[in-house]
Amino acid sequence: MPKNFTTAKAHPNIAFIKYWGNADQNLRLPANASISMNLSELETVTKIAFLPDQSSHLLKINGILQDTEHTSRVATYLESVRNLYAFQGSLAIESHNNFPMGAGIASSASAFAALAVALNDLLELNLPQSGISALARLGSGSACRSIPAGFTVWEKGRTHLDSFAATFAPPDHWELRDIILIVAAEEKAVGSTQGHALADTSPYQSVRVHDAKRRLEICRRAILNKDFNKLAWIIEQDSDMMHAVMMTSRPPINYWQPASIAIMQKVRDLRKNGIACAYTLDAGPNVHVITLATDQTKVINAFKGFPGLQDMYISNIGAGAQVIP
Ligand code: PMV
Repeated sequence: MPKNFTTAKAHPNIAFIKYWGNADQNLRLPANASISMNLSELETVTKIAFLPDQSSHLLKINGILQDTEHTSRVATYLESVRNLYAFQGSLAIESHNNFPMGAGIASSASAFAALAVALNDLLELNLPQSGISALARLGSGSACRSIPAGFTVWEKGRTHLDSFAATFAPPDHWELRDIILIVAAEEKAVGSTQGHALADTSPYQSVRVHDAKRRLEICRRAILNKDFNKLAWIIEQDSDMMHAVMMTSRPPINYWQPASIAIMQKVRDLRKNGIACAYTLDAGPNVHVITLATDQTKVINAFKGFPGLQDMYISNIGAGAQVIP
């Protein structure tokens, strides 16, 4: 008998080699391949159920029923899923994040990853992991990297089904930690979907994309060989290159705030003094400080009371997205 509802869980991820700009906006096929690590301490749990007699979808996030404006991105996503895998009726979606929504940590990756896993189960699509990853990508590009476990690579691909992420090292491969330093908790002014569409207006984007393969290989090898110094150098360069593109787009997007810059400087100073740490920033001002388990306490202590720091989250490396009982 078909199920009435299903529940799935997914973690967000932090990109080491960033995805910025699309080769195909509608399919969210990326301009370049990317690498990330899942974050085990943060998660989204999503329950979905059929609403046979309703014409529109219902979306609740952290217990609050969302208005049409907030539901529209999910509704558009569900229509693209319906075009691929016909299904009848509407859905009730109830999603919970264990991290506050306005905390400045991107929740779209874990949200669409959990939703894709739940859809695969409820609609009995029986997709392989690569197919679920591709399905998540249609909602938010980076969500495809939250489907497989641990350290994942998203090869860009040319069609819907060959643009997906896969694990290249499991979560227990290397004891890295992500210390997320929150300097601004409000929603960002320019969302990533809008940002991707502006990437090509920067003269630096073609250089960034052209050089992406080199950075990706260095990063992948640094992770496989557990070479922290190489990893530190390449993820900082990659993050800076993406932000250089953002800052030189038309109109420009500036995500860095004074506190973000001060933290980046401090991370470099700490590294000079022998503490394993490196920074990377997604489309926002909050700084992810990547460190080793052995140096975690030193990094946390170094940032306690840092000017402009509002909050701190610490995460290990996460599993892939899955259906939960
Ligand atoms: O998946 P999106 O559309 O939210 O884009 C994510 C973009 C970055 O977080 C800045 C980089 C990345 O690869 O995750």
